[in-house]
Amino acid sequence: MAAKAANSRLKVWLDGKSIWYDEATVPILTHSLQYGSGIFEGIRAYQGKKGTAIFRLKDHVRRFIESTKIYSMNIGYDAHEIESAIIETVRVNRLKSCYIRPFAFYSDDHIGLDVSGKKVSVFVAAVPFSDYFGNGGRGLKAKVSSWRRINSDVLPVEAKASGNYLNSIISSIEAKASGFDEAILLSKNGYVSEGSAENIFMVKNGAIVTPHKASDILLGITRDTVIKLGEASGIVIEERDMHREELYAADEIFFSGTAAGIAPIVNVDGISIGSGRVGPITKMITEKYLNAVSGNNPDFEEWVTYV
Ligand SMILES: Cc1ncc(COP(=O)(O)O)c(C=O)c1O
Repeated sequence: MAAKAANSRLKVWLDGKSIWYDEATVPILTHSLQYGSGIFEGIRAYQGKKGTAIFRLKDHVRRFIESTKIYSMNIGYDAHEIESAIIETVRVNRLKSCYIRPFAFYSDDHIGLDVSGKKVSVFVAAVPFSDYFGNGGRGLKAKVSSWRRINSDVLPVEAKASGNYLNSIISSIEAKASGFDEAILLSKNGYVSEGSAENIFMVKNGAIVTPHKASDILLGITRDTVIKLGEASGIVIEERDMHREELYAADEIFFSGTAAGIAPIVNVDGISIGSGRVGPITKMITEKYLNAVSGNNPDFEEWVTYV
């Protein structure tokens, strides 16, 4: 018999039951598949000294529940039940480090946008995961996208909703087709907003600067982690409007995100950033981040949930 595909060996949590990945199927006309009406989270667990640690579980689940609320989606589970489903999924699959994807979606297979009274399903999947950009942290080449980041006049930017990600995908397609690793999107007002699935930071004269909420960013949990780790190290953190040209003149730039981790950027639009190599503050934040996510920093151990 042929070896089972990697995901087939995994169990997923679907509507309250832990079942095999291959058994968790949906009809092709599933509403959220057609219209992008799903709500999701991206969470990671890391192998630490005390075992598998899920990073900022409560914060991710809070954002998940808030995203469903923004869209008036009644998922039928409270935060505690979703947290338990996540812990159970990591445990049952005996995963040491992994990416966890809770997903709430309209599982009804009807044509038409009306979701009132329609069935909602929730799954939690967890899969082994390593380097998001696949470049071993060497430093990315980013392109300021010709696509603008969606804004709150059009869609709720703070909700992690599937449909929002078409904006991310089209900017990423453009960046890759132009020979870059990732896109940087500007806000509708022309200020720096974020990457396709990452928040962005620059270092200038020893301070860390990042776009504020008014730049239509997703309020990233890794972003908040970087701010807190930076503050704990005595670094000045500025959350404000950022001009595109400030990127070109920055000393260091990096992305932050659950999937991306801390990902250094060494070139924007063909312009070399700072020394052209990964800078000292980026290295310091990366080290502190990797310690915190795996529960190895006692000052921030409340951020991790052991499985
Ligand atoms: C659009 C967008 N911005 C920023 C982030 C970073 O958020 P977090 O650090 O919570 O993963 C993500 C990651 O999910 C994202 O999709």
